[in-house]
Amino acid sequence: MPSTVNNNSNKIELLRAFSSRPILTFEEDKKFFTSFEKDIESTILAIDTFENVLIVGDHGSGKSSLLNHISYKLTDDENALLIKLSALDFENFNRQNFLKHVVEILREESKQNRSKSGKLLDGFIRTMSDKRMQDEMEERRPKEYNDLSKLQTRFVTMVEHLKENQIKICIIVDDIDKINSNLVWLTFRNIRDQIWKSKISIILTVLPNQVSEITKSPLDHFFSYWVKISAFDFKSTKELVQRRLDYAHSNIKIDDGAIKETLRRTGGNPRDILDVFRRVFESEKTSNLISKQDIEQVGIVFSNKLPSIEKEIFNYLVHNSDSSSSSTDFAKKMRVSRSRIAQILSKLRKEGYIISHKQGNVVRYSVTDSGLERRKEI
Ligand SMILES: Nc1ncnc2c1ncn2[C@@H]1O[C@H](COP(=O)(O)OP(=O)(O)OP(=O)(O)O)[C@@H](O)[C@H]1O
Ligand SMILES: [Mg+2]
Repeated sequence: MPSTVNNNSNKIELLRAFSSRPILTFEEDKKFFTSFEKDIESTILAIDTFENVLIVGDHGSGKSSLLNHISYKLTDDENALLIKLSALDFENFNRQNFLKHVVEILREESKQNRSKSGKLLDGFIRTMSDKRMQDEMEERRPKEYNDLSKLQTRFVTMVEHLKENQIKICIIVDDIDKINSNLVWLTFRNIRDQIWKSKISIILTVLPNQVSEITKSPLDHFFSYWVKISAFDFKSTKELVQRRLDYAHSNIKIDDGAIKETLRRTGGNPRDILDVFRRVFESEKTSNLISKQDIEQVGIVFSNKLPSIEKEIFNYLVHNSDSSSSSTDFAKKMRVSRSRIAQILSKLRKEGYIISHKQGNVVRYSVTDSGLERRKEI
C-alpha cells in the first residue's frame, strides 16, 4: 500500500507550488518555466528587427508567463529598454493614456539613473536647451500630459535620443485580452506611423478571437509576428508537473496514465493542468503515486473561464441543437467567421461540452449532458 501524504506542511508546499498565478519575473519562478523556446526566440528576433508581436493564446494558456520570461531574458541586455504595462492599469485604453504611461516610465527610468537608458535619459534631460521643457520633464506630473501634441513631442524626443544611442526599445502590454479589441485597434491605428518611425517594438498578449479586429486595416502589416501559444503536449505536461514537485521537495510520483488523463481533460491548458493537480493534492487521500484513477476522481475541471465567444457558441447550441458550422445564420449571429466557429466547435467537442455527428456531408453539433450539467459553471 502506498503511504499517504498526511503531513500538512508538505501539502501546503505542494499547493503553493501548483498555484495557477502567472510565472512572474522572480528568480525562483524561472525554475517553473517549460517549453516555448521557439516562441521566445521568434519574439526576441522581432524585437531585434523592430517588428511588433501579438502573443496569441486562450485564457490560462501561458501568455503572461511567456511575456514575463521574455522580459526576464531581456533584462540581461543593457542595450534593451523594456517598458512593461498592463492594459488593466489604464482607465481608458487610448493613444493619450498609452503615451502618458510610456513617457511616465521613461521619466522614472531617468530619475532612477541606474540602467544605461536611465543614465542616457537623465543626461539628456539635463542638457536640454529648452529650459521650459526641462522643467516640465522634471516636474512630477506635467500638466502637458493632457495636451496630446506636447505629449507626443515628449515621447518622440526621448525615444529618438535613446535610439540614437543604439538602445532597443520594447513596449509590452499584457492583459490586452481583458479589454475591448476595438479600443486596441483605435489606439495603435493613430500612432502606427510614429511607432514605425521610432523603430520601437510593441508586444501585446491577446485572445485568438481578438486578432482579426486588432489587425484589420490599416494595421494589417503592423503586427507582423503572431506567436500562437500551443497547448501543452505529453512531454511538457510531465515537465510542468515535475518541476513543481521538485520545487516542493516532494517525492510524489506521477504515472504516465495520470498525465494522459490530465491532458485529455484539460486539452493541454497549463492553468487547467495545475487546477487538476491542486485538487488531487487537496484531497485527504493523496498517495505517493498518482495514477489515472486519482485524476478521474477529481471530476471534471469546471471551466468558468470559457471566453465569451465560446460561451455564446455553446449557448447557441443549447437552443439550436444539431447546428452545423457551415450555417450562415450561425456565423452571422456570432459575428465571427465560419472557420473561427469551426475551430471553437472542435475545441468544445474535445473538452466534452458538445458532440458531433455526420449527416450526409454536414457535421452537426449538439450539447452533451455533461456540457449541460456544466452550463451553470460556464
Ligand atoms: N511555459 C510554462 N511553464 C510552466 N508553467 C506555465 C507555463 N505557461 C503557463 N504556465 C502556468 O499556467 C498558468 C496560466 O498561465 P498564465 O497566467 O501565464 O496564462 P495567461 O494566458 O496569461 O492567462 P490569462 O488569459 O488569464 O491572462 C500559470 O499558473 C502559469 O504558471
Ligand atoms: Mg495573463
